[in-house]
Amino acid sequence: MSTILLVTSSPSCGSVSSTLAKELAAGLSASSGAVVVHRDVGTSPPAHLDAVLSSAIRKPADQRDAPEAAAAAGSDLLVDELLAADVIVIGTGLVNFGVYSGLKSWIDNVARAGRTFRYGAGGPEGLVGAKTAYVVVSSGGVYSQGPAAAADHASSYVETVLRFLGVQDVRLVRAEGLALGEEAAKASINAARAAIDAHVNV
Ligand SMILES: Cc1cc2nc3c(=O)[nH]c(=O)nc-3n(C[C@H](O)[C@H](O)[C@H](O)COP(=O)(O)O)c2cc1C
Repeated sequence: MSTILLVTSSPSCGSVSSTLAKELAAGLSASSGAVVVHRDVGTSPPAHLDAVLSSAIRKPADQRDAPEAAAAAGSDLLVDELLAADVIVIGTGLVNFGVYSGLKSWIDNVARAGRTFRYGAGGPEGLVGAKTAYVVVSSGGVYSQGPAAAADHASSYVETVLRFLGVQDVRLVRAEGLALGEEAAKASINAARAAIDAHVNV
């Protein structure tokens, strides 16, 4: 049976990005029969990339001390979930022009030389394989066009990481302008839901 890895990253219970990402994953699951594996890195953030984790993921397993082995095991679990997934759905709010810190930590745990990417004579090669990823980004401002477009470092960052890891089919769903008044926010969320429906009912 195929698997959808749903990664939500907002710590807020009223999260727009998590709500929409869950709806997208549920829709994809309903239309394909895929099982959803939910990794909530907003309320349970993965280990920060500290000295122990940084050292652990750069040495062979038999050379790790006990704290490094524990850190590597946490990272391995997240890598295994990513490698096992057929489809990836990631939700994040735009936070100070970047992603939620829990999502950054998740990325730091799953970007593993020798497991999810490697360097060869031809340069970097992603090892995550041919999968489709959906990235749901909610934001107070508008970044899809206009003067602030270059300031959205969340969607471009997550897409860059996914492509580096070998996921070439990356689809963005935006709910933007949420701080521009109730009507604008409602319209934006409705537009995001229409985009989700279009992805689900292909
Ligand atoms: C601490 C903080 C920082 C934020 N930074 C930005 C920002 O840089 N740009 C922006 O457009 N919106 C910003 N926002 C608004 C959020 O992107 C928006 O509320 C989004 O829906 C949050 O995601 P969530 O609802 O999934 O938690 C910020 C909100 C918070 C709480």
